[in-house]
Amino acid sequence: MRRSAAALALAAGLAGCGGGSSGAPAGPCSPPGAGVDPDRPAQRLSELCLVEAAGGGTVAPRPGVVPYDLNTPLFSDYALKTRTVWLPPGTRAAYDAEAPLDLPVGAIVTKTFALPPDLRTPTAALRLLETRLLVRTAQGWRGYPYLWNAAQTDATFQPGGAVLQLPLVTPSGAAVTASYLVPSVTQCARCHADTPDGALHLLGPTARNLNRTLGYPSGPENQLAHWSAAGILVGAPAPADAPRLPVWNDPGTGSVAARARAWLEVNCAFCHSPGGLARTTGLYLGTGVTDPYQLGVCKPPVAAGPGSGGLAYDVVPGDPDASILVYRVAATDPVAVMPQLGRSVVSDEGLALVRQWIAELPSQPCP
Ligand code: HEC
Ligand code: HEC
Repeated sequence: MRRSAAALALAAGLAGCGGGSSGAPAGPCSPPGAGVDPDRPAQRLSELCLVEAAGGGTVAPRPGVVPYDLNTPLFSDYALKTRTVWLPPGTRAAYDAEAPLDLPVGAIVTKTFALPPDLRTPTAALRLLETRLLVRTAQGWRGYPYLWNAAQTDATFQPGGAVLQLPLVTPSGAAVTASYLVPSVTQCARCHADTPDGALHLLGPTARNLNRTLGYPSGPENQLAHWSAAGILVGAPAPADAPRLPVWNDPGTGSVAARARAWLEVNCAFCHSPGGLARTTGLYLGTGVTDPYQLGVCKPPVAAGPGSGGLAYDVVPGDPDASILVYRVAATDPVAVMPQLGRSVVSDEGLALVRQWIAELPSQPCP
């Protein structure tokens, strides 16, 4: 009794701090409806009532905000990610078998990044780094980065982005220092916009990448089925009839080739596609690409030079060491690193998968 009275007094004291370091807004909190002003983004993430710090370097979705996960995610210097989607009440997304789901005006998608100092014990000393927002306004998608404070209570709008120097031990035990990028508002477009119109769009939530089971408070359920039942998705077939992307690091979900192609789609194809930033290379890495030359087989690079590591072809079947694609996934030097931004350390596991895929391609000398 005495203890709970003290806890109440403490809570009241914190709520009364207003602009203090606690960051938690007083009173009820509900997501903002369609009322996010694209010209005046919220200064604090907590004002939007989408996710809140839940301790131990994690965030929890607020009521009405739906968490989601992807079969195969983008690698971002080993950061662990929590994603959520929120749709204004009464609105829904239309199912699409191919393209990322088209969310209605007012929708807000969040992605929160956290890193522990040692990836071998990922929940120990986990820290929240940043939360990125994509907001669907009447004028299209807008992207906003928020940087978490040292007290881990709230995140502040950071339009110019940041680079964080973070010592890391990777899953295989290597000690590295990540120059971790919190992208600026302008940098969102490097990956989220197609050329030439430059309009931002969603990347992750395709039916095939969402088609998996997630643990909800109500129990485990397929995400497409859950979204349909929650009334935020219309027109979706039964999950068994929807396409499904393999989980890149789960051999039970696909062959080496299928998982490597899934990894390349999510990590590379948003630039390496006919509308992407790397369209002029003619190297297209989406899972739908069937022409071996477009996939890099015996294809000389458009720009020879230091980015190619002195090698002649993007992919030499059966020979990962002769393949520029492998060289650039293994690179950290800015002239060669792929993706061009958003990664400063090597994904040893992604590299191993791509190497194995090329090693297993029937050996073929290039002309
Ligand atoms: C290096 C490329 C890159 C940059 C730069 C980038 N993103 Fe993304 N982002 C991605 C990819 C790829 C995904 C989907 C895969 C995933 O979620 O792991 C994604 C996913 C997201 C999502 C979840 C919804 C979706 O589209 O899948 C949000 C929200 C988001 N990004 C916001 C931002 C904002 C805001 C910025 C700029 C401050 C930004 N991103 C910069 C590549 C990038
Ligand atoms: C943010 C955009 C972006 C992303 C993401 C990206 N690339 Fe690139 N890539 C480029 C651009 C631009 C070029 C052309 C300039 C150059 O060669 O550096 C290029 C060139 C290449 C080339 C030379 C291709 C040729 O035939 O000329 C290879 C190989 C390559 N990228 C591999 C990859 C791989 C593998 C990934 C994913 C792990 C990836 N890239 C992700 C932008 C990107």
